[in-house]
Amino acid sequence: MSQRKPLVAGNWKMNGNQALLGEIAGSLVSYQGGADVVVCPPFPYLAAARAALPGNVQVGAQNLSDQQDGAFTGEVGAAMLSEVGCGYVIIGHSERRALYGEDDALVAAKFARAQAAGLVPILCVGETLEEREAGNTEAVVCGQLLAVVDAVGIDAFASAVIAYEPVWAIGTGKTASPEQAQDVHATLRATLAEKSPNIASSTRLLYGGSVKADNAALLFSQSDIDGGLIGGASLTADSFLAICQAAK
Ligand code: PGA
Repeated sequence: MSQRKPLVAGNWKMNGNQALLGEIAGSLVSYQGGADVVVCPPFPYLAAARAALPGNVQVGAQNLSDQQDGAFTGEVGAAMLSEVGCGYVIIGHSERRALYGEDDALVAAKFARAQAAGLVPILCVGETLEEREAGNTEAVVCGQLLAVVDAVGIDAFASAVIAYEPVWAIGTGKTASPEQAQDVHATLRATLAEKSPNIASSTRLLYGGSVKADNAALLFSQSDIDGGLIGGASLTADSFLAICQAAK
């Protein structure tokens, strides 16, 4: 079976505060499991997260600028994230795509900026309910993936993570079934394999969308699911720890 180490990332979105950071840091002190764990709070808490979290837990950002530095008011650059201790950055989350107009070209540019600064991108892909019902899931998710592969090259995926997040499952309580998720993950891996079998077999593919403490183990047991990107359930110390423990 695969040598891929599981990864669980908590995406706080625009939630949380110093108190939550203290609770999450306190509960993760006891984490001894075999997964890589990443906590992604909003920008203002990143440096404090690096200071508070145990050394075996990584810090990730939720977004970054496609520009290096300069007159871009309100933007945050990759090197800044790296300097305050981030190891990862979420890129192309469906909320960024739908609410802030991020298209595939911008997502690819951000991916390249992240890697140039030594950050590991967590590239999100996922279909809407309409796209799924029209039978377009594969075309949509593979299209989103290939747009980045074509821009940055397949070798860049040697140090990247992909998160499959069906838009209809995010924050809705409607989790994709383990079979539905596994199907899409296998398709994404096969798409990578057409470019590079080695990279396809080593790249971690996370599932995201209403992962909870009680459904995580079954999702993570699927052969092409290497962990999760967790929204709502990452905002409670107990449930996030339980999900990390479900990743073996
Ligand atoms: P959710 O969010 O776990 O609350 O569904 C997942 C995500 O958007 O990353």
